[in-house]
Amino acid sequence: MNTPAILKTFHNGKMKEYFVRPEGEMHTDLGIIKLDELREKTFGDKISTHLGVELIIQKPRPPDMFIHARRSGAPMMPKDIGVIISNTGLCSSDSVLDAGTGSGILAIYLGSIAKRVVTYEIREDFLELARENFAQAGLANIELRLGDIETEIQKLDEKFDVITLDTMASSRVVPYVPDIIYPGGFLVTYSPFFEQAKEIRESIGRTNFVHVRTIETLEREISFSDRGTRPSTARVGHTGFITIARY
Ligand SMILES: C[S@@+](CC[C@H](N)C(=O)[O-])C[C@H]1O[C@@H](n2cnc3c(N)ncnc32)[C@H](O)[C@@H]1O
Repeated sequence: MNTPAILKTFHNGKMKEYFVRPEGEMHTDLGIIKLDELREKTFGDKISTHLGVELIIQKPRPPDMFIHARRSGAPMMPKDIGVIISNTGLCSSDSVLDAGTGSGILAIYLGSIAKRVVTYEIREDFLELARENFAQAGLANIELRLGDIETEIQKLDEKFDVITLDTMASSRVVPYVPDIIYPGGFLVTYSPFFEQAKEIRESIGRTNFVHVRTIETLEREISFSDRGTRPSTARVGHTGFITIARY
């Protein structure tokens, strides 16, 4: 294999994992791993450190990227990404337009399902970081474009099945979406504040979208202990409001 991989082992009762590229060597507290050897292996094989500790080689999946990818800011949470995927019915023939790219976490999940993702990022440094993350994820179907989605969307002459907007500019971008979305396609916006969500709803209200809904997803983890089983008492934080509309 010639792609990034996850190396995982259980040592002294604890799971350890490393996200690596098949080049050079890596010094760990379990010994030195000759990463070049990965080129002769496939996912599911094992690799040993010079101290004889065996690690299993796994194919990275989007949740691994959520944990290991470099971040330029707050990425979208898997619970919210799941709602986007389920409500749009994203599938392998879909073309997706995404903005802003940020760390590229949403784009990675979308790209692991859809045929193609075009994603716009206004900041060049963030774009370069996302480019690295896409390479780490082993995805070649994500096209990164530098630019302000508010102006760039007006120049597009292609159409998309799903459009995801995660920027403060979303309400100003919405008026141009009908020109570049296939009939029956979905627009999804993500906004941390009520005020933003309201502006987006007003903007959508001035177009011909149908089945418009704004939702918040709450995820409660269940904790298991000798004392009993119950929802975790850890704080459930707010992430963002998701607005879904169909054209
Ligand atoms: C909250 S982050 C997106 C996170 C991303 N969805 C993820 O899962 O990693 C918002 C990103 O939008 C970018 N951005 C802000 N305004 C933009 C615009 N007008 N056009 C393109 N990108 C923009 C920001 O630089 C930032 O990286």
